[in-house]
Amino acid sequence: MTGPVGDLRPIAWTGAALRVIDQTLLPGRLEYIDLTTADAVVDAIRRLAVRGAPQLGAVGAVGVVIAMDEAAREGWPQARLDAAVDAIRSARPTAVNLAWAVDRVRPLMTRGREAVLAAALEIIEADERVNHAIGAYGADWIQARIDHPVRVITHCNTGALAMVAWGTALGIVRELHARAALEMVYVDETRPLLQGARLTAWELQRDGIPYRVQADGAAASTILRGLVDVAIFGADRIAANGDVANKIGSLGLALACREAGIPCLSAAPVSTVDLSTASGDDIEIELRGDEEVLAFGGVRVAPAGARAFNPAFDVTPARFITGLVTEVGVLAVSDGETPARRLGG
Ligand code: MRU
Repeated sequence: MTGPVGDLRPIAWTGAALRVIDQTLLPGRLEYIDLTTADAVVDAIRRLAVRGAPQLGAVGAVGVVIAMDEAAREGWPQARLDAAVDAIRSARPTAVNLAWAVDRVRPLMTRGREAVLAAALEIIEADERVNHAIGAYGADWIQARIDHPVRVITHCNTGALAMVAWGTALGIVRELHARAALEMVYVDETRPLLQGARLTAWELQRDGIPYRVQADGAAASTILRGLVDVAIFGADRIAANGDVANKIGSLGLALACREAGIPCLSAAPVSTVDLSTASGDDIEIELRGDEEVLAFGGVRVAPAGARAFNPAFDVTPARFITGLVTEVGVLAVSDGETPARRLGG
């Protein structure tokens, strides 16, 4: 594939399969895999071949179509199809977009495959529009407060690879770059699966955006040394009170920003807001396998017998989120403009 990654579409419906980039192979190899069974969808989600909250939503919605096609091919009874859809919905627990998207298309199953497919494709199509709106709102907010080329710190991967296109936090970065208002992006490597070093760096490099990869442990120091104007990260689930669950390590950025007196933004579509979750205390945090922490590059580094603690996400309390950037505008969460107030019915 050539061209800037800003034009990249990491997932596409072929008519018979969901074609996705296998993100576990990046940046070394850009390879696509075709998902045609419910088990393959669940496996791709669990091993992070597909990942990022909005992309998980799109994959989950199309996954229901894939399960329906498989059921028709294999002559499954309804109970087996229901179990397959349940398995897709719960393949990862923290990013609410996955359950949100499955729940959105599932009621259409009684109306047939084409109705489910149309709803799933609408989720995919909407994602790009939503991301560009987030990028514009975020860049406007930042430029209204910072009158020089901006130095950003970000965590994990929130670019096209985490969506269908463009990006949320990285969409804001792309928008700032397009406006010639970006100086530098500090990219946390994002242990243990290195979504920053492998994926965000790959996206920024292809777009010609200046960046440095740093160890996660460098983040607080980079912020307190005055090298950063704003932190921007994504979200996997946002509670009604504005608490933000995101990749493990995001909380450290928020705490350092508070100490340094600089803004900390979380960027996410409204579909990542879960008004039925009152606060971050109620968000299930995915615990992943020991081997992700105890080995590096497939080579065991910890001594035999070592055990790991490997939460994939942390929760940043709302009071540390200066702004929540969505497609309907920026919510001043730490000033009390919570999702419940702004988005509640
Ligand atoms: O475990 P991952 O790679 O799926 O985690 C992804 C993140 O934490 C992202 O920051 C989040 O999903 C937001 S993507 C816009």
